[in-house]
Amino acid sequence: MGKTSPAELANPSIPEPPRIYLDNAATSWPKPEQVVEAIASYYRDSGVPAFRGISGQTSGTDQGVERCRQKLAQFIGSKNKNEIVFAFNGTDALNMVLQGVISPRDHVVATTIEHNSVLRPLSYLVNEKGVEVNYVDIDKNGLVDPDKIVAAVRPNTKLVCISHVSNVTGVIQPVEAIGKRLRDHHALFLIDAAQSLGHLELNVQEIGCDFLAAPGHKGLYGPLGTGLLYAAERSWQKIRPYRLGGTGTQSDSDVQPEQMPTRLESGNLNVGGILGLEAGLDFVIENTIAEVHKKSLQLSTHAIDGLLTIPGVEIYCLGAPERTAVLSFNISGRDSREIATILESAFGIQTRAGFHCSPKVHSSLGTFESAGTIRISIGFFNTVDEIDKLVEAVSQIAAAM
Ligand SMILES: Cc1ncc(COP(=O)(O)O)c(C=O)c1O
Repeated sequence: MGKTSPAELANPSIPEPPRIYLDNAATSWPKPEQVVEAIASYYRDSGVPAFRGISGQTSGTDQGVERCRQKLAQFIGSKNKNEIVFAFNGTDALNMVLQGVISPRDHVVATTIEHNSVLRPLSYLVNEKGVEVNYVDIDKNGLVDPDKIVAAVRPNTKLVCISHVSNVTGVIQPVEAIGKRLRDHHALFLIDAAQSLGHLELNVQEIGCDFLAAPGHKGLYGPLGTGLLYAAERSWQKIRPYRLGGTGTQSDSDVQPEQMPTRLESGNLNVGGILGLEAGLDFVIENTIAEVHKKSLQLSTHAIDGLLTIPGVEIYCLGAPERTAVLSFNISGRDSREIATILESAFGIQTRAGFHCSPKVHSSLGTFESAGTIRISIGFFNTVDEIDKLVEAVSQIAAAM
């Protein structure tokens, strides 16, 4: 006799549906086997921290961390590995810049597509430090106009910040065009690459950004607890450490070291995570970004085609010229959370519903009434069959309403 699952035990008449994971924008899953193995072998065979000892194992750990730093630098077009700072997630990397660069009474230009990892630090700076922020809105296709960004820059603008790809709509923003326009201005330029790194070819020289923040656990297929900040050497003097403490270097001094990236990397690094991140990055490089993007985009197009045949389904920002495999939809007049709950409980399909930590974009999309949107975000391991099951499930839910 087969084993009874917890769901069958709870209600023997309802078989547990297979899990279909469509929430890769939150964190990618599954992780490639080589990522799992890299983390496991570090904890099994070594487990020593980085930059904090003189044993052979320590030096092996140090080399692994520096190797990952080097690969990340090369991956995003940086010529100096010290421009890569390890962070604990995307939020941590963003805070390094937002709290490390902005001073009282500075002005910041951001956009309405920003994630709370940007909006909340900025609100804090507005409320506590007298900082001023202008939020540039998107057009009906979810795009930010570079001219509007430049028009919002003032003499005291310290930073321009934009999410490369909206985590709600999947629309790709023209960051190269914005970077080009900002070259004649004094403002520093920060890219939130949480939804683009690992999905799109990305070159920091071509974008011309000063900073680029990203998690390691989304498009790079690394584990949770990893992230990175690219900090251009020309802007090193402009960034203060927002987290201070032990670095394993200059231990005889109680003053934070000046050199980068150590200045921003206080506290033990997540070494197992970084080695897992290296393996995830290798996986993306082996499969090539073009293939990763093509495969997930094909599935996304398949999902869009299927969902659009269902009466009452609206998908947002389909008119955008370029997008990733993240998309948001609603069924007319329904609460997004209700639909996502049924998708998971009755069909085993894990999507995400609500505001996706991006409250401002819902005013632009007009999706406050539906309590946000249902978001599906496709990863390298999803299949056509899974997308067909999603479309069939949404169709059944819509028909039953
Ligand atoms: C656009 C965007 N920025 C920042 C973040 C924060 O990343 P993390 O969850 O790694 O802190 C996310 C996460 O969903 C995101 O989508």
